[in-house]
Amino acid sequence: MNLKNRITQRKAVIGIVGLGYVGLPLVREFLVNNFRVLGFDNDAEKIAAINKGQSYIHHIPSEFIDQFARRGALEATGDFARLREADAILICVPTPLGKHHEPDLSYILSTTDAIAATLRAGQLIVLESTTYPGTTEEEILPILAKTGLTVGKDFYLGYSPEREDPGNSQFPTAKIPKVVSGVTESCLDVIKVLYDQIIEQTVPVSSTRVAESTKLLENIYRSVNIALVNELKVVFDRMGIDIWEVIEASKTKPFGFQPFYPGPGLGGHCIPIDPFYLTWKAKESEVHTQFIELAGEINAYMPSYVVQKTARALNDDNRSLKGSKILLLGVAYKPDVDDLRESPALKIMELLMTEGAKVDYNDPYIPELPATRRYQFKKRSVELTPSNLESYDVVIITTNHSCYDYNLIREKTHIIIDTHNALGLKGQREGKVWKA
Ligand SMILES: NC(=O)c1ccc[n+]([C@@H]2O[C@H](COP(=O)([O-])OP(=O)(O)OC[C@H]3O[C@@H](n4cnc5c(N)ncnc54)[C@H](O)[C@@H]3O)[C@@H](O)[C@H]2O)c1
Repeated sequence: MNLKNRITQRKAVIGIVGLGYVGLPLVREFLVNNFRVLGFDNDAEKIAAINKGQSYIHHIPSEFIDQFARRGALEATGDFARLREADAILICVPTPLGKHHEPDLSYILSTTDAIAATLRAGQLIVLESTTYPGTTEEEILPILAKTGLTVGKDFYLGYSPEREDPGNSQFPTAKIPKVVSGVTESCLDVIKVLYDQIIEQTVPVSSTRVAESTKLLENIYRSVNIALVNELKVVFDRMGIDIWEVIEASKTKPFGFQPFYPGPGLGGHCIPIDPFYLTWKAKESEVHTQFIELAGEINAYMPSYVVQKTARALNDDNRSLKGSKILLLGVAYKPDVDDLRESPALKIMELLMTEGAKVDYNDPYIPELPATRRYQFKKRSVELTPSNLESYDVVIITTNHSCYDYNLIREKTHIIIDTHNALGLKGQREGKVWKA
């Protein structure tokens, strides 16, 4: 039976490499559509959790994992020799930046080596990790081709960028159109059939380079537009104008304007990182990506801006950052998720502590701060009781979690720094509330 028939008849085994924020939701889509899924990861804790029927991602319930793990439809393993068992292999491993802001493809390359070691005729390989244009054909294809098997004939290869928005219930994975591409026509044909089983709308494009670039355009678009409103926030603030009110009014224009909102800085695994993949690759063609670099600079400055605003608010009250007790509300990089990666709240915490402030945090999604590559804070989330709130000199709203009771917070705190307009203030300051 050929691969397309195996897919449509649910006989194909789906191998997903990297069971993180992207991989696990994909696992879920294949399971609900009656595929058997074999998950690969090199994190022994994640493998054990899945096989015990436990989830480690907030928006995927353990009951869901348990139900499919018990039935044998889902299994996780660190034994990469078992990649041979999968008919389709989707690569969802991290693509971070190296020390000098260069792409770190080591996760993709080691996964490709493992796939090549067991590659057999009839397998389909799709890269989902975000990366620079050319990765699939310049980096992955040569490794797989060394096996002697021919792409488009013996095995299939393509790229399909992930557009997961964790925690967004309006756009679950199946409802987000998915761009698909293949190294050859026949590759695209099989890849489209695969994703058509789990996604409502697939969008075929002519090459893997176009698909790789699509994802980068989407992320750069956000990074640049967020930087623009962050810059305007600072400019308007000096002029006594409230950016939030300006955006509300501007967005009544029914065409040609899409609102973006300022904040304490960029977070998450994508937007602060991916644009620099293109910056690096563009150097090969002797082109500079000025927009990307400028946006990165402005967005990276935002945590310092929040700290400056906090110092000003304390100063206004004859106090200083040094020795002040400060509470950060929310450390996740966006509301209602448990993801800390690149969160600007951590940078703000570091800057405040450097100035001699005593800093605590509250985040219902993150009870304890895990050590990251950059930060080793040993802190636990404090409770939001009225007396506890009263004990802080400043509360900074760093993440606008929907569970926060802002009436209580407003009533009990001395100074509030609001980086998300969570209190809906008109103007930049009202008594003890300052916008930053
Ligand atoms: N998180 C998002 O919202 C999002 C959205 C779109 C695209 N992406 C992209 O998807 C990719 C994965 O991101 P993520 O957020 O899922 O990352 P993640 O860190 O949540 O998950 C990656 C997983 O891969 C595992 N892993 C690392 N090296 C491995 C290896 N050699 N073999 C097997 N498993 C390995 C890790 O243990 C982890 O479980 C990245 O390229 C990212 O840019 C992420």
